[in-house]
Amino acid sequence: MERRKYLQIPGPTNVPERILRSLSKPLLNHRGEEFEELVGYCVSGLKKIYKTENDLLLFPSSGSGILEASIVNLFSRGDKLAVIKLGVFSDRMADIAENHGLNVIPIEKEWGSSVSPIDIKEVLENDKDKEIKAVCLPHNETSTGIKNDIKGISEMIKELNHPALIVVDAISSLASLELKTDEWNLDVVISSSQKGLMLPPGLGIVSISKRAWDMVEKSDISKWYWDFKAVKERMKGNQFPYTPATTLLFGLKESIDILLEEGLENVWNRHELMTNAIRNSAHAMGLKLLTSDEDGSNTVTAIILPDGINYPDLSKVLSEDYNIVIGGGLKKLKGKIFRIGHLGSIHHV
Ligand SMILES: Cc1ncc(COP(=O)(O)O)c(C=O)c1O
Repeated sequence: MERRKYLQIPGPTNVPERILRSLSKPLLNHRGEEFEELVGYCVSGLKKIYKTENDLLLFPSSGSGILEASIVNLFSRGDKLAVIKLGVFSDRMADIAENHGLNVIPIEKEWGSSVSPIDIKEVLENDKDKEIKAVCLPHNETSTGIKNDIKGISEMIKELNHPALIVVDAISSLASLELKTDEWNLDVVISSSQKGLMLPPGLGIVSISKRAWDMVEKSDISKWYWDFKAVKERMKGNQFPYTPATTLLFGLKESIDILLEEGLENVWNRHELMTNAIRNSAHAMGLKLLTSDEDGSNTVTAIILPDGINYPDLSKVLSEDYNIVIGGGLKKLKGKIFRIGHLGSIHHV
């Protein structure tokens, strides 16, 4: 039998046995009552994990799909957005917005650094006519292994009394890093299945505040598959406008149960413990990390490749001799770093 690889990439993560078993259940009618119960259970469970009472929509999609869905539903052509750019995935948000004719005001940071509330405050203070419609940023930038102070940034926007929405890519932070959607006043929180939820890829998730729905009403960008209003309407009856990823919902139910049984605080603490173990071990080995300990993410650690060691050789040895799979550097960090994912089911396999 083929040996199971132990994934320490920053997603897709290992899928625990309990979830794997639920994914092999026979399919059911996605127009039937049993399915509606399942959707209802998943939505209310996800709201607990998001810590929100906002509407929450599900899409059969990857994380990028739900990023694009959020852009095309919230905004109109020409809208000004402040987009934080500090790695591959935050840059992707800016690319998507530009592709749809939005006016992106980039707030760039060096790859490996986080953005501070002050960096964003300057831009919002200069926006005298309050034209910026949203601040878009990742909670956790997976390509560099940094976390951003979402709570502090959201508080700063409120203190300034600026009407910009806060749109958060929580794809690599949900169910791993402390995240409190309602308490932190987060308007739109985007995530997907293959990271902290410990599921295979294929489910996109988004929570939408009342203020954000007001923007959706005004949006002039065309959409059909991604239409938040159409999906919201059908989801009122725990249905979807098209065939959903039924099997993944079996897994999602199990994932919600596992996370809530452990307790979210414990889940967040476990990720912090894992991070400290990895960062401290790397320091003890004399390895140089890409980020400061303060900025460092609780789901992925980026380590500079020491002189004389290249990523293909390192990942080959780890995979063949130890059965462990790690990640490499992306785009301009290719060949410069390796990344250890420590999110999701690191202890369950
Ligand atoms: C923070 C972040 N945003 C967006 C994405 C893109 O998600 P996907 O690859 O599922 O499209 C990823 C993927 O790793 C991510 O980590």
